Amino acid sequence: MTFRSWVKRHVPWWIHYSYRKIYYAPKDVPMAFRFIFHNTKSSTTVWERLWLIWQFYVISYHVDCPHTEHELINITRHILDLDSAIHGVLIEAGAFHGGSTAKLSLVAKLCGRELNVFDSFEGMPENVEEHGKSIYGREHHFPKGSHAVGLEEVRNNVVRYGDISYVRFHKGFFDVTMPKFKSPVAVACINVDLVQSTKDCLRFIYPLIVSGGFIFSQDGHFPWIIKLLRDERFWNDEMHVRKPVMHGLGTSKFVKIMPSNH
Ligand SMILES: C[S@@+](CC[C@H](N)C(=O)[O-])C[C@H]1O[C@@H](n2cnc3c(N)ncnc32)[C@H](O)[C@@H]1O
Repeated sequence: MTFRSWVKRHVPWWIHYSYRKIYYAPKDVPMAFRFIFHNTKSSTTVWERLWLIWQFYVISYHVDCPHTEHELINITRHILDLDSAIHGVLIEAGAFHGGSTAKLSLVAKLCGRELNVFDSFEGMPENVEEHGKSIYGREHHFPKGSHAVGLEEVRNNVVRYGDISYVRFHKGFFDVTMPKFKSPVAVACINVDLVQSTKDCLRFIYPLIVSGGFIFSQDGHFPWIIKLLRDERFWNDEMHVRKPVMHGLGTSKFVKIMPSNH
């Protein structure tokens, strides 16, 4: 058992939660203030933005979230800053317990876009990838079936803490569900840990991104994902596009990918 899982099992959740919020406060709090006092292109009020941030903290208390508040606030800010003339739905690839799904469903409601959620709801697919330390020094491994959380639990979390009326679930492995999806996409959030899963997402979603839209990878802290996104050969030979402009690659968990064909 790792120290982290020992802490999760033996330390009361409210202590664990408070520790996480205090530890990340230097990044979370300035990001939250910048968001609350920033006028978004989708018309939202200060009170709506303040309420949203409050809901994010409530959701993180009730649902096990592997992301931090500043990551989701950053994504939210980019989504709400899209011009309303830019059409297209939102995509989330990788839901886990549905914490990020519940948060993004509230964002979807604020900007009036549908949120399409793709996950196997059975965890990671069979894979032979070698993993290891992230750029932050933590060890990570993603064998088949890890991160498995059933659709019912995710749906219940969205019903309880988000807005289910803006959400459509696509259950199954990406290489099966994504080829059937053809709607124009404004923003896609990819949080899938594996190289093969990231490749699947990019292969099927990238061509659907509308002009002015973009993709976020929340796996930019994994050296194997950095290597993939830096690889000219992957972009040229497998994606058949010029390598796009990417912000945060190699330095952040958070990589913004802007398709170059627009
Ligand atoms: C890190 S978790 C997502 C975390 C979530 N976005 C959050 O912040 O709470 C990764 C998810 O990706 C899913 N996943 C990874 N590869 C997949 C694939 N090829 N097909 C379907 N689901 C996949 C796993 O089932 C898991 O739920």
